[in-house]
Amino acid sequence: MRIAVLHGVNLDQLGRRDPAHYGSMTLAQLEARISEWGRELGIETTFFQTNHEGEYVERLHASRGAAAGLILNPGAWTHYAYAIRDALEISGLPAVEVHLSDVMSREPWRHQSVIRELCVATVAGRGAEGYREALQILKKELPE
Ligand code: DQA
Repeated sequence: MRIAVLHGVNLDQLGRRDPAHYGSMTLAQLEARISEWGRELGIETTFFQTNHEGEYVERLHASRGAAAGLILNPGAWTHYAYAIRDALEISGLPAVEVHLSDVMSREPWRHQSVIRELCVATVAGRGAEGYREALQILKKELPE
């Protein structure tokens, strides 16, 4: 089973962002951790990050057929990028939305998610551990 983990805008800057919200891991360290958790669950993980919305959309288009499910942390795009919401719908894949920080206890503009209604679950405020939960949720969701 292959799961694609797609990180959006500014997530390449992990390690330099406010550790109170995002912890101190770099994106490479986070991806290594997720990949290990995936292996433990018998899941192959692939990773992608971009700061360009169109590239994120195109990656979602290409995900159909390339992965069985998605873990999405689109960063700030989560809150307003309807093109990403539509591309997720086009992908037709089960997805879990993940945020390192507890978006619901932050600024009001972070409470909105344009992808939430299309996702099987949202995990927020659990730091890196949230990705492990997302993998477990998708494993239950998907046929072997
Ligand atoms: C984030 C939360 C977003 O509000 C923010 O813009 C990010 C990261 C998170 O993982 O907590 O860039 O998605």
